[in-house]
Formats: sequence, structure tokens, C-alpha cells
Amino acid sequence: MKRAVLLVLSSMLCTGLALADAKLGVRCGAGERCGKEVARFGVITDIHHTNKPDSASRKYSAALPKTEHFVATMNRMRADFVVELGDLVDLLSGGKDPVQNLMEVENLFTSFNGPTYHVLGNHEFDNVKRADLLSYLENTGIPAGRTYYSFDHNGIHCIVLDADYTVAEPHRPFDLQDPANPFWTWKDAFVPQEELDWLAADLAAADRPTVVFAHQLFHRDAAEDHTVKNAPAVRRLLEQDGQVLAVFSGHDHRGEIAYVNGIQYIVLEGNVGISRDWPTVSPTNGLDPVKDGQFAYVEIRELNAPAFNGRKAYQVVVTGSGQQYSYQDEIQIAP
Ligand SMILES: [Fe+2]
Repeated sequence: MKRAVLLVLSSMLCTGLALADAKLGVRCGAGERCGKEVARFGVITDIHHTNKPDSASRKYSAALPKTEHFVATMNRMRADFVVELGDLVDLLSGGKDPVQNLMEVENLFTSFNGPTYHVLGNHEFDNVKRADLLSYLENTGIPAGRTYYSFDHNGIHCIVLDADYTVAEPHRPFDLQDPANPFWTWKDAFVPQEELDWLAADLAAADRPTVVFAHQLFHRDAAEDHTVKNAPAVRRLLEQDGQVLAVFSGHDHRGEIAYVNGIQYIVLEGNVGISRDWPTVSPTNGLDPVKDGQFAYVEIRELNAPAFNGRKAYQVVVTGSGQQYSYQDEIQIAP
């Protein structure tokens, strides 16, 4: 396996492009190679709604207004759908009903004027039993209880993965646990064989460019803390398919971009904080829902470029809000 080429966040990445100023997404004139749009969607990650006190690097108290700003922006942009990449909630400090805490942010997220989808993060299991959690989360058109699934929108196929399983056999799914006797930690992340088999079949059946959503990371060395411990097995399936454009993740709030064997791995910055003390990053101290509300508006376009070596070219354009970086690149996949 060739190693990841990590792209430093350089001058090609503009931080904090204002989604409010209408300078959005792809801009090109008639006849240029921008081609046709095949999808547009919103992605947000690591909202961490809780009644816990704020810290210097995590502003829990701004979770609801930031979620509201995300939904309002995606409604204005007429996004096809929105995805939340996990850690919707965080451990409560006591005195608050866990279901009320969950539904406060869930009701805001699902107020988007279109389909909404969730990826499970590790913190989802901090306060509520698994069975209850899965009954409360709304994934449009997906049967309740499914934690990995797929759907099509316009010109793309979307796959949501669930890596919230213990590394130790028998790879137990995460659940509410006794803090005195835990069976998983935030460093546990694994995709069990049954899910790998489903992924292989789903990829084989899909007939269009594919985008993958997950909480944990796949592109780094598997021993790294934020990375799925059997990531190479997942990457192998994605690479063999030949139609995967990009993988979006959260979990490591610092964000990152990597390119591995023809696939973009886009790690979004945490909405609650970007793992740096807010006073050093923003004069609004991480509390302003517009200036510090991290999320991305994504457009995918099929380029007018002639096929190169029989491969079609697509453009993935990520426009960041708040401190979230912006980025765009061209990816070639099998037709
Ligand atoms: Fe998180």
C-alpha cells in the first residue's frame, strides 16, 4: 500500500470563506470545463451538545445556535441533503435528561428542508442506551436501527459507515457503559466483517460516483489514535471499487486532508472546537455561531474534460464556514 500523501493546509486552502457573502462554490463561465453539478450537500461534525461547562478549546454552550446557523445556511443554499458526522452530543454533567439533551439538537438538525443523515460517533453512547439512541435519530428513508447504510442523491451514491465497535473480539458495538467497568474507549474503532461484506456488495451494486461518510479516520496508519484499526481493509474495498471520490470524517477536531491511492480523505474541523484554545484562534472565543460555526458546503461536478486513460474527472469543492478550511480538487474515477 502506498502511503498517504498528506497535503499541508497551504495557500490553496482559504480559511473561513464566508458562506454568507454569496461567493459560494464553483464559479465558471459558459463553455468552461466546470461541467454539470451532480450533487450539493452540507456536512457538519462534532457538535458535542451537552450542559457541561465550556473549556478553552471546546465551547459546548454554543452548540444549538451553531447547529441552527448550519441548517439555515444549508436551507439558503438549497443543499440536496445534510449529514452529521458524529459526536452530536457529549457526556452530561448531571441534572439534565439525556433524551431531552439529544432531542434539542436532533430537532434542530432535522429542521433542515430536506433529507437528514447521521453517522454514529463515540460520544453518542455517553448518556443513552444504544436501542433508545437508534430509535431517536432520524435518517431519511433509512429503517430505524441501521447504523451503516447507503442512499443515492442526484448523481452520487452515498455510503455511511459505522466504526463504533471494539477492537477486541468479538468486536462489540458501543453502548452505554459503566464508567467503572468500561468495555470501549474513544480510541476503539473497527469495522467488523459483516459490515465489510455489506460494503463490498453495496459498492459493487452502485452505478455512480461514490462519497463515503464516517466518524473515525481511514487514511492514517492504523495504529494512530483517531484511526479505524482495520482501516487498510476498508481502504482496499474503496480502492478496488474505483468509483469512490472522497471520504468525509470528523473525530480529530483539528481537521486534515489526505490523498491516498486516488481517493480524497477530507477530515472536517470540529464544530465544538478545533483542538486549539479559542482565545488564540478567534476574537469571538469560539462562541459566535457564524464566525466560529465550523461546517462545509460541498459541491460535486462532472467536468467537461475528455476522459484521461478512460477515466472521468470530477471536481470536489468544499466551502468552509467559520474556521473550517475550504478546498477543491479534481478526482478521476472509472466511468
Ligand atoms: Fe468529537
